[in-house]
Amino acid sequence: MTTALSIKNLRVSVEDKPIIKDLNLDVKLGEIHAIMGPNGSGKSTMAYTLAGHPKYEVTGGEVWLDGVNLLELEADERARLGLFLAFQYPTSVPGISMANFLRTSMNAVKNQSNGNGNGNGHTPKGMPIAEFRKELKSKMQLLKMDDSFAKRYLNEGFSGGEKKRAEILQMALLQPKVAILDETDSGLDIDALRIVSEGVNTLTNPNRSFIIITHYQRILDYIKPDVVHVMFNGQIVKTGGPELAKELETTGYDFLY
Ligand SMILES: Nc1ncnc2c1ncn2[C@@H]1O[C@H](COP(=O)(O)OP(=O)(O)O)[C@@H](O)[C@H]1O
Ligand SMILES: [Mg+2]
Repeated sequence: MTTALSIKNLRVSVEDKPIIKDLNLDVKLGEIHAIMGPNGSGKSTMAYTLAGHPKYEVTGGEVWLDGVNLLELEADERARLGLFLAFQYPTSVPGISMANFLRTSMNAVKNQSNGNGNGNGHTPKGMPIAEFRKELKSKMQLLKMDDSFAKRYLNEGFSGGEKKRAEILQMALLQPKVAILDETDSGLDIDALRIVSEGVNTLTNPNRSFIIITHYQRILDYIKPDVVHVMFNGQIVKTGGPELAKELETTGYDFLY
């Protein structure tokens, strides 16, 4: 199987403090990897670093996607190459509908703009509205979402579940090669959990890889990972199959300390 994403000896500091210390991870095409581990292990730091968040300073290592070292690219270029991090966009934008937001983000990512238009002085306009609407409708049907959702204002008054629904819909439209979902330490309520897992399961395909970051193993009752890693102190300290998640549910993370 071909490798989709390869992290080699990654080191990351936040405000001069080393957080990721020597991270190695290979994700093959079509695989679902879960990254678990106690709070403060560096899981979210890894996700933001891969997406190119400026706050995270890479002090060593390489990250390869499609023969390109991601670390040499700007965040938008990484997205165009097929990397998706759930919610790398503003969380609440009053007055912007979901549909508008999704079209803008899709054009930004899908449009292979080279910064100077199409060579004849015109700025690329992206996908025509009618075509976008068709695409949006088909993705919403695929994900069994109600049409009215697209008309809602972005994240305004969204429940946890609706935010996740927006995130999954965005992923469906962008069709990333590697999608990273950071489920945060607070965990998801059962509604949000169901939306995320059904979405991921619907969008799984042989050419798409997922990295599911989670503190709790609960979501892994709904999404079956191929590989489970435990991250601790900025490194992957243990790797196994789905049974490792079950094991952690019983043992907790105490054995790491
Ligand atoms: N933006 C930030 N500013 C300052 N410290 C941070 C920031 N992000 C992460 N850290 C620190 O990095 C460490 C790892 O955090 P994080 O990546 O959020 O871990 P996890 O997601 O595994 O809980 C923690 O000690 C945290 O305090
Ligand atoms: Mg985190």
